[in-house]
Amino acid sequence: MTNTVAVDLGARSYQVRIGEGLIARAGAEIAPLLRRKRVAVVTDETVAAAHLPALTDALAAEGISATALALPPGEGTKNWENLARCTEWLLEQKVERKDVVLALGGGVIGDLVGFSAAILRRGVRFVQLPTSLLAQVDSSVGGKTGINTAQGKNLVGAFHQPSLVLADIGVLSTLPGRDFLSGYGEVVKYGLLGDAAFFDWLERDGPALRDGDTAARLRAVTRSVEMKAGIVSRDETEEGERALLNLGHTFCHALEKATGYGDRLLHGEGVAIGCALAFELSARLGLCSQEEPSRVRAHLAAMGMKVDLSDIPGDLPGTEALIALMEQDKKVVDGRLRFILARGIGQAFVAEDVPGEAVRAVLDEAMARRR
Ligand SMILES: NC(=O)c1ccc[n+]([C@@H]2O[C@H](COP(=O)([O-])OP(=O)(O)OC[C@H]3O[C@@H](n4cnc5c(N)ncnc54)[C@H](O)[C@@H]3O)[C@@H](O)[C@H]2O)c1
Repeated sequence: MTNTVAVDLGARSYQVRIGEGLIARAGAEIAPLLRRKRVAVVTDETVAAAHLPALTDALAAEGISATALALPPGEGTKNWENLARCTEWLLEQKVERKDVVLALGGGVIGDLVGFSAAILRRGVRFVQLPTSLLAQVDSSVGGKTGINTAQGKNLVGAFHQPSLVLADIGVLSTLPGRDFLSGYGEVVKYGLLGDAAFFDWLERDGPALRDGDTAARLRAVTRSVEMKAGIVSRDETEEGERALLNLGHTFCHALEKATGYGDRLLHGEGVAIGCALAFELSARLGLCSQEEPSRVRAHLAAMGMKVDLSDIPGDLPGTEALIALMEQDKKVVDGRLRFILARGIGQAFVAEDVPGEAVRAVLDEAMARRR
Protein backbone atom coordinates (compact mmCIF):
# COMPACT_ATOMS: atom_id res chain seq x y z
CA MET A 1 0.00 0.00 0.00
CA THR A 2 1.28 3.45 -0.89
CA ASN A 3 -0.02 6.65 0.68
CA THR A 4 0.34 9.97 -1.07
CA VAL A 5 0.51 13.30 0.72
CA ALA A 6 0.45 16.53 -1.28
CA VAL A 7 2.62 19.48 -0.37
CA ASP A 8 0.59 22.34 -1.72
CA LEU A 9 2.85 25.19 -2.78
CA GLY A 10 1.39 26.47 -6.04
CA ALA A 11 3.87 26.01 -8.88
CA ARG A 12 6.28 24.29 -6.49
CA SER A 13 3.77 21.67 -5.26
CA TYR A 14 4.89 18.06 -5.08
CA GLN A 15 3.88 14.67 -3.77
CA VAL A 16 5.30 12.64 -0.93
CA ARG A 17 4.76 8.96 -1.65
CA ILE A 18 5.04 6.64 1.35
CA GLY A 19 5.02 2.86 1.23
CA GLU A 20 6.98 -0.35 1.11
CA GLY A 21 8.95 -1.16 -2.05
CA LEU A 22 9.07 2.37 -3.50
CA ILE A 23 12.78 2.11 -4.30
CA ALA A 24 12.07 -0.94 -6.45
CA ARG A 25 9.50 1.19 -8.32
CA ALA A 26 11.61 4.36 -8.36
CA GLY A 27 12.25 4.24 -12.11
CA ALA A 28 8.55 4.34 -12.93
CA GLU A 29 7.89 6.98 -10.25
CA ILE A 30 10.68 9.28 -11.43
CA ALA A 31 10.44 8.77 -15.22
CA PRO A 32 7.64 11.34 -15.72
CA LEU A 33 9.91 14.08 -14.32
CA LEU A 34 12.77 13.43 -16.74
CA ARG A 35 13.54 15.29 -19.97
CA ARG A 36 16.24 12.74 -20.76
CA LYS A 37 16.68 9.27 -19.29
CA ARG A 38 19.68 10.07 -17.15
CA VAL A 39 20.07 10.94 -13.45
CA ALA A 40 22.86 11.64 -10.96
CA VAL A 41 22.46 10.00 -7.56
CA VAL A 42 24.21 11.24 -4.42
CA THR A 43 24.16 9.03 -1.34
CA ASP A 44 26.38 8.04 1.58
CA GLU A 45 28.60 4.97 1.72
CA THR A 46 26.44 3.07 4.24
CA VAL A 47 23.21 3.64 2.35
CA ALA A 48 24.96 2.91 -0.97
CA ALA A 49 26.02 -0.52 0.28
CA ALA A 50 22.49 -1.41 1.39
CA HIS A 51 20.22 0.26 -1.18
CA LEU A 52 22.00 1.79 -4.18
CA PRO A 53 21.95 -1.38 -6.33
CA ALA A 54 18.17 -1.69 -5.88
CA LEU A 55 17.74 1.93 -6.95
CA THR A 56 19.99 1.71 -10.03
CA ASP A 57 18.25 -1.56 -11.04
CA ALA A 58 14.86 0.10 -10.72
CA LEU A 59 16.04 3.03 -12.84
CA ALA A 60 17.63 0.72 -15.43
CA ALA A 61 14.35 -1.20 -15.70
CA GLU A 62 12.84 2.02 -17.09
CA GLY A 63 15.85 2.68 -19.33
CA ILE A 64 17.21 5.41 -17.03
CA SER A 65 21.00 5.49 -16.68
CA ALA A 66 22.47 6.62 -13.38
CA THR A 67 25.85 7.75 -12.10
CA ALA A 68 26.39 7.78 -8.36
CA LEU A 69 28.56 9.50 -5.77
CA ALA A 70 28.79 8.06 -2.24
CA LEU A 71 29.96 10.48 0.45
CA PRO A 72 31.12 9.43 3.93
CA PRO A 73 28.20 8.86 6.34
CA GLY A 74 27.52 11.12 9.32
CA GLU A 75 26.78 14.68 10.35
CA GLY A 76 30.40 15.71 9.68
CA THR A 77 29.67 15.35 5.95
CA LYS A 78 27.28 18.30 5.96
CA ASN A 79 30.07 20.85 5.46
CA TRP A 80 31.56 23.24 2.89
CA GLU A 81 34.07 20.67 1.69
CA ASN A 82 31.47 18.06 0.78
CA LEU A 83 29.16 20.71 -0.66
CA ALA A 84 31.98 21.66 -3.04
CA ARG A 85 32.76 18.02 -3.75
CA CYS A 86 29.13 17.16 -4.49
CA THR A 87 28.48 20.25 -6.61
CA GLU A 88 31.65 19.84 -8.66
CA TRP A 89 30.90 16.17 -9.17
CA LEU A 90 27.43 17.06 -10.47
CA LEU A 91 29.05 19.52 -12.89
CA GLU A 92 31.54 16.85 -14.00
CA GLN A 93 28.57 14.55 -14.66
CA LYS A 94 27.27 17.31 -16.94
CA VAL A 95 24.02 17.71 -15.05
CA GLU A 96 22.02 20.35 -16.91
CA ARG A 97 19.31 22.81 -15.82
CA LYS A 98 16.50 20.45 -16.85
CA ASP A 99 18.02 17.32 -15.25
CA VAL A 100 17.04 15.77 -11.94
CA VAL A 101 19.40 14.92 -9.07
CA LEU A 102 18.47 12.11 -6.67
CA ALA A 103 19.31 12.34 -2.95
CA LEU A 104 19.36 8.82 -1.48
CA GLY A 105 19.99 8.80 2.25
CA GLY A 106 19.22 10.30 5.62
CA GLY A 107 18.82 13.94 6.55
CA VAL A 108 22.50 14.66 6.06
CA ILE A 109 22.40 13.65 2.41
CA GLY A 110 19.01 15.26 1.81
CA ASP A 111 20.10 18.60 3.27
CA LEU A 112 23.49 18.64 1.53
CA VAL A 113 22.34 17.41 -1.88
CA GLY A 114 19.25 19.63 -1.80
CA PHE A 115 21.47 22.64 -1.18
CA SER A 116 23.84 21.58 -3.92
CA ALA A 117 20.88 21.25 -6.32
CA ALA A 118 19.68 24.70 -5.24
CA ILE A 119 22.95 26.39 -6.23
CA LEU A 120 23.91 24.22 -9.20
CA ARG A 121 23.24 26.22 -12.38
CA ARG A 122 21.07 28.50 -10.16
CA GLY A 123 18.80 25.60 -9.29
CA VAL A 124 18.13 22.14 -10.69
CA ARG A 125 15.30 19.87 -9.65
CA PHE A 126 15.90 17.08 -7.16
CA VAL A 127 14.07 14.07 -5.77
CA GLN A 128 14.37 13.03 -2.15
CA LEU A 129 14.64 9.29 -1.45
CA PRO A 130 14.83 9.45 2.36
CA THR A 131 16.17 6.30 3.97
CA SER A 132 16.22 7.16 7.68
CA LEU A 133 13.07 7.57 9.75
CA LEU A 134 14.08 11.16 10.54
CA ALA A 135 14.44 11.99 6.87
CA GLN A 136 11.13 10.30 5.97
CA VAL A 137 9.08 12.12 8.59
CA ASP A 138 10.84 15.46 8.57
CA SER A 139 13.90 16.56 6.64
CA SER A 140 12.89 15.36 3.15
CA VAL A 141 9.70 17.42 3.22
CA GLY A 142 9.54 21.20 3.25
CA GLY A 143 12.53 22.34 1.22
CA LYS A 144 14.95 23.39 3.95
CA THR A 145 18.43 22.52 2.69
CA GLY A 146 21.85 23.45 3.97
CA ILE A 147 25.08 22.68 5.71
CA ASN A 148 26.74 23.23 9.09
CA THR A 149 29.64 25.64 9.61
CA ALA A 150 32.07 26.29 12.44
CA GLN A 151 29.54 28.83 13.76
CA GLY A 152 26.72 26.31 14.12
CA LYS A 153 24.24 23.95 12.52
CA ASN A 154 22.29 24.70 9.36
CA LEU A 155 23.45 28.31 9.27
CA VAL A 156 24.07 28.26 5.52
CA GLY A 157 21.41 27.01 3.17
CA ALA A 158 18.45 27.70 0.93
CA PHE A 159 14.79 26.90 0.60
CA HIS A 160 14.65 24.53 -2.36
CA GLN A 161 11.64 22.24 -2.61
CA PRO A 162 12.10 18.74 -4.05
CA SER A 163 10.05 17.71 -7.09
CA LEU A 164 9.05 14.43 -5.49
CA VAL A 165 9.70 12.51 -2.26
CA LEU A 166 9.73 8.71 -2.26
CA ALA A 167 9.74 7.38 1.30
CA ASP A 168 10.22 3.61 1.11
CA ILE A 169 9.45 2.38 4.62
CA GLY A 170 10.96 -1.03 3.73
CA VAL A 171 14.48 0.45 3.87
CA LEU A 172 13.98 1.27 7.54
CA SER A 173 14.67 -2.42 8.27
CA THR A 174 18.41 -1.84 7.70
CA LEU A 175 18.52 1.31 9.82
CA PRO A 176 20.38 0.75 13.13
CA GLY A 177 18.01 0.74 16.12
CA ARG A 178 19.56 3.85 17.62
CA ASP A 179 19.05 5.84 14.40
CA PHE A 180 15.47 4.56 14.18
CA LEU A 181 14.72 5.81 17.69
CA SER A 182 16.43 9.09 16.95
CA GLY A 183 14.01 9.60 14.04
CA TYR A 184 11.16 8.59 16.32
CA GLY A 185 12.01 11.69 18.37
CA GLU A 186 10.65 13.75 15.47
CA VAL A 187 7.55 11.54 15.16
CA VAL A 188 6.71 12.15 18.83
CA LYS A 189 7.30 15.86 18.23
CA TYR A 190 4.36 15.97 15.78
CA GLY A 191 1.99 14.49 18.33
CA LEU A 192 3.25 16.85 21.01
CA LEU A 193 3.01 19.96 18.89
CA GLY A 194 -0.36 19.51 17.31
CA ASP A 195 -2.12 16.15 17.47
CA ALA A 196 -2.95 14.74 20.91
CA ALA A 197 -4.80 11.76 19.40
CA PHE A 198 -1.69 10.84 17.43
CA PHE A 199 0.35 10.99 20.66
CA ASP A 200 -2.24 8.72 22.36
CA TRP A 201 -1.84 6.27 19.48
CA LEU A 202 1.97 6.43 19.73
CA GLU A 203 1.77 5.65 23.44
CA ARG A 204 -0.18 2.53 22.53
CA ASP A 205 1.45 1.39 19.26
CA GLY A 206 4.91 3.00 19.47
CA PRO A 207 6.57 -0.20 20.72
CA ALA A 208 5.08 -2.27 17.84
CA LEU A 209 6.20 0.36 15.37
CA ARG A 210 9.71 0.28 16.85
CA ASP A 211 9.76 -3.52 16.63
CA GLY A 212 8.98 -3.56 12.90
CA ASP A 213 5.19 -3.47 12.48
CA THR A 214 4.86 -2.26 8.87
CA ALA A 215 1.28 -1.00 9.14
CA ALA A 216 2.17 1.04 12.22
CA ARG A 217 5.26 2.44 10.51
CA LEU A 218 3.20 3.42 7.47
CA ARG A 219 0.67 5.18 9.67
CA ALA A 220 3.31 7.00 11.73
CA VAL A 221 5.27 8.22 8.70
CA THR A 222 2.10 9.23 6.85
CA ARG A 223 0.61 11.18 9.76
CA SER A 224 3.94 12.92 10.42
CA VAL A 225 4.27 13.90 6.75
CA GLU A 226 0.65 15.10 6.65
CA MET A 227 1.34 17.38 9.58
CA LYS A 228 4.58 18.70 8.15
CA ALA A 229 3.06 19.17 4.68
CA GLY A 230 0.13 21.10 6.13
CA ILE A 231 2.36 23.43 8.12
CA VAL A 232 4.80 23.97 5.23
CA SER A 233 1.94 24.66 2.80
CA ARG A 234 0.62 27.39 5.09
CA ASP A 235 4.01 28.87 6.03
CA GLU A 236 6.80 27.83 3.66
CA THR A 237 9.52 30.22 4.85
CA GLU A 238 8.81 30.15 8.60
CA GLU A 239 7.18 33.52 9.11
CA GLY A 240 4.91 32.02 11.78
CA GLU A 241 3.36 28.55 12.19
CA ARG A 242 6.34 26.64 10.76
CA ALA A 243 8.31 27.62 13.87
CA LEU A 244 6.17 25.07 15.78
CA LEU A 245 8.26 22.37 14.08
CA ASN A 246 11.11 23.64 16.24
CA LEU A 247 9.51 22.24 19.40
CA GLY A 248 12.43 21.02 21.52
CA HIS A 249 15.00 22.45 19.12
CA THR A 250 16.30 25.41 21.14
CA PHE A 251 17.42 22.98 23.86
CA CYS A 252 18.45 20.42 21.25
CA HIS A 253 20.72 22.73 19.28
CA ALA A 254 22.52 23.87 22.43
CA LEU A 255 23.01 20.24 23.51
CA GLU A 256 24.20 19.19 20.05
CA LYS A 257 26.70 22.03 20.02
CA ALA A 258 27.87 21.16 23.54
CA THR A 259 28.39 17.51 22.57
CA GLY A 260 30.11 18.26 19.25
CA TYR A 261 27.38 17.07 16.82
CA GLY A 262 28.55 13.52 17.16
CA ASP A 263 27.82 10.09 18.46
CA ARG A 264 27.20 11.28 22.02
CA LEU A 265 23.89 12.79 21.00
CA LEU A 266 22.07 12.24 17.69
CA HIS A 267 19.81 15.01 16.40
CA GLY A 268 16.52 13.22 17.09
CA GLU A 269 17.74 12.21 20.56
CA GLY A 270 18.37 15.89 21.26
CA VAL A 271 14.89 16.71 19.93
CA ALA A 272 13.29 14.17 22.27
CA ILE A 273 15.17 15.49 25.30
CA GLY A 274 14.42 19.04 24.13
CA CYS A 275 10.69 18.27 23.89
CA ALA A 276 10.68 16.92 27.44
CA LEU A 277 12.49 20.08 28.64
CA ALA A 278 10.11 22.33 26.68
CA PHE A 279 7.16 20.66 28.43
CA GLU A 280 8.99 21.02 31.75
CA LEU A 281 9.45 24.73 31.02
CA SER A 282 5.79 25.05 30.05
CA ALA A 283 4.72 23.46 33.33
CA ARG A 284 7.06 25.73 35.30
CA LEU A 285 5.50 28.76 33.61
CA GLY A 286 2.05 27.47 34.62
CA LEU A 287 0.98 26.82 31.03
CA CYS A 288 0.25 23.13 31.55
CA SER A 289 0.09 20.71 34.46
CA GLN A 290 3.16 18.86 35.74
CA GLU A 291 1.56 15.63 34.50
CA GLU A 292 2.22 16.60 30.89
CA PRO A 293 6.07 16.57 31.02
CA SER A 294 5.85 13.37 33.09
CA ARG A 295 3.74 11.76 30.37
CA VAL A 296 6.20 12.84 27.67
CA ARG A 297 9.10 11.37 29.65
CA ALA A 298 7.21 8.15 30.39
CA HIS A 299 6.57 7.53 26.69
CA LEU A 300 10.18 8.25 25.65
CA ALA A 301 11.41 5.93 28.42
CA ALA A 302 8.96 3.19 27.38
CA MET A 303 10.42 3.39 23.87
CA GLY A 304 13.95 2.97 25.27
CA MET A 305 14.96 6.49 24.29
CA LYS A 306 17.12 9.15 25.89
CA VAL A 307 14.84 11.23 28.07
CA ASP A 308 16.94 13.70 30.02
CA LEU A 309 20.36 15.38 30.33
CA SER A 310 21.35 12.50 32.62
CA ASP A 311 21.16 10.14 29.60
CA ILE A 312 23.85 12.06 27.71
CA PRO A 313 27.25 10.43 28.33
CA GLY A 314 30.30 12.52 29.23
CA ASP A 315 30.64 16.06 30.51
CA LEU A 316 28.19 18.82 29.72
CA PRO A 317 28.76 22.54 30.22
CA GLY A 318 26.78 24.16 33.04
CA THR A 319 23.46 25.96 32.84
CA GLU A 320 24.92 29.38 31.95
CA ALA A 321 27.06 27.95 29.16
CA LEU A 322 24.04 26.11 27.73
CA ILE A 323 21.99 29.30 27.83
CA ALA A 324 24.82 31.11 26.02
CA LEU A 325 24.70 28.42 23.34
CA MET A 326 20.92 28.89 23.04
CA GLU A 327 21.44 32.61 22.54
CA GLN A 328 23.63 31.86 19.51
CA ASP A 329 20.85 29.82 17.96
CA LYS A 330 19.23 31.34 14.91
CA LYS A 331 15.87 31.10 16.67
CA VAL A 332 16.95 34.01 18.81
CA VAL A 333 15.28 37.19 17.55
CA ASP A 334 16.86 40.49 18.68
CA GLY A 335 18.56 38.72 21.59
CA ARG A 336 15.27 37.42 23.05
CA LEU A 337 14.91 33.74 23.83
CA ARG A 338 12.14 32.31 21.72
CA PHE A 339 10.79 28.89 22.67
CA ILE A 340 8.04 26.66 21.46
CA LEU A 341 5.96 26.00 24.56
CA ALA A 342 2.75 24.05 25.09
CA ARG A 343 -0.56 24.45 26.87
CA GLY A 344 -0.79 20.67 26.87
CA ILE A 345 0.01 17.71 24.64
CA GLY A 346 -0.90 18.69 21.08
CA GLN A 347 -1.13 22.41 21.89
CA ALA A 348 2.19 24.06 21.10
CA PHE A 349 2.67 27.75 20.43
CA VAL A 350 5.50 30.21 19.83
CA ALA A 351 6.50 32.11 22.96
CA GLU A 352 8.65 35.22 22.58
CA ASP A 353 10.59 36.65 25.51
CA VAL A 354 10.61 33.60 27.76
CA PRO A 355 11.95 34.62 31.19
CA GLY A 356 15.56 33.57 31.55
CA GLU A 357 15.03 32.55 35.22
CA ALA A 358 12.54 29.86 34.25
CA VAL A 359 14.90 28.41 31.62
CA ARG A 360 17.72 28.55 34.16
CA ALA A 361 15.62 26.73 36.78
CA VAL A 362 14.62 23.96 34.36
CA LEU A 363 18.25 23.42 33.32
CA ASP A 364 19.50 23.58 36.93
CA GLU A 365 17.05 20.85 37.91
CA ALA A 366 18.03 18.72 34.89
CA MET A 367 21.72 19.22 35.79
CA ALA A 368 20.98 18.13 39.37
CA ARG A 369 19.42 14.90 38.02
CA ARG A 370 22.78 14.15 36.32
CA ARG A 371 24.52 13.93 39.69
N1 LIG B 1 15.85 19.94 6.33
C1 LIG B 1 15.12 19.78 7.39
O1 LIG B 1 13.99 20.27 7.47
C2 LIG B 1 15.64 18.96 8.54
C3 LIG B 1 14.77 18.57 9.56
C4 LIG B 1 15.27 17.74 10.57
C5 LIG B 1 16.61 17.36 10.55
N2 LIG B 1 17.42 17.77 9.54
C6 LIG B 1 18.82 17.35 9.49
O2 LIG B 1 18.86 15.93 9.29
C7 LIG B 1 20.12 15.45 9.74
C8 LIG B 1 19.92 14.18 10.53
O3 LIG B 1 19.33 13.22 9.67
P1 LIG B 1 19.50 11.64 9.94
O4 LIG B 1 19.20 11.36 11.35
O5 LIG B 1 18.78 10.96 8.86
O6 LIG B 1 21.08 11.48 9.82
P2 LIG B 1 22.01 10.74 8.74
O7 LIG B 1 21.70 11.20 7.39
O8 LIG B 1 23.39 10.94 9.23
O9 LIG B 1 21.59 9.22 8.88
C9 LIG B 1 21.85 8.55 10.10
C10 LIG B 1 22.73 7.32 9.87
O10 LIG B 1 21.92 6.29 9.35
C11 LIG B 1 22.50 5.77 8.15
N3 LIG B 1 21.38 5.33 7.34
C12 LIG B 1 20.42 6.11 6.77
N4 LIG B 1 19.48 5.34 6.21
C13 LIG B 1 19.85 4.05 6.41
C14 LIG B 1 19.27 2.81 6.10
N5 LIG B 1 18.08 2.71 5.49
N6 LIG B 1 19.94 1.69 6.45
C15 LIG B 1 21.13 1.77 7.10
N7 LIG B 1 21.71 2.91 7.47
C16 LIG B 1 21.07 4.04 7.13
C17 LIG B 1 23.35 6.87 7.60
O11 LIG B 1 24.39 6.35 6.81
C18 LIG B 1 23.86 7.53 8.88
O12 LIG B 1 24.99 6.83 9.35
C19 LIG B 1 20.72 16.57 10.58
O13 LIG B 1 21.77 17.16 9.85
C20 LIG B 1 19.58 17.57 10.75
O14 LIG B 1 20.04 18.90 10.85
C21 LIG B 1 16.96 18.56 8.54
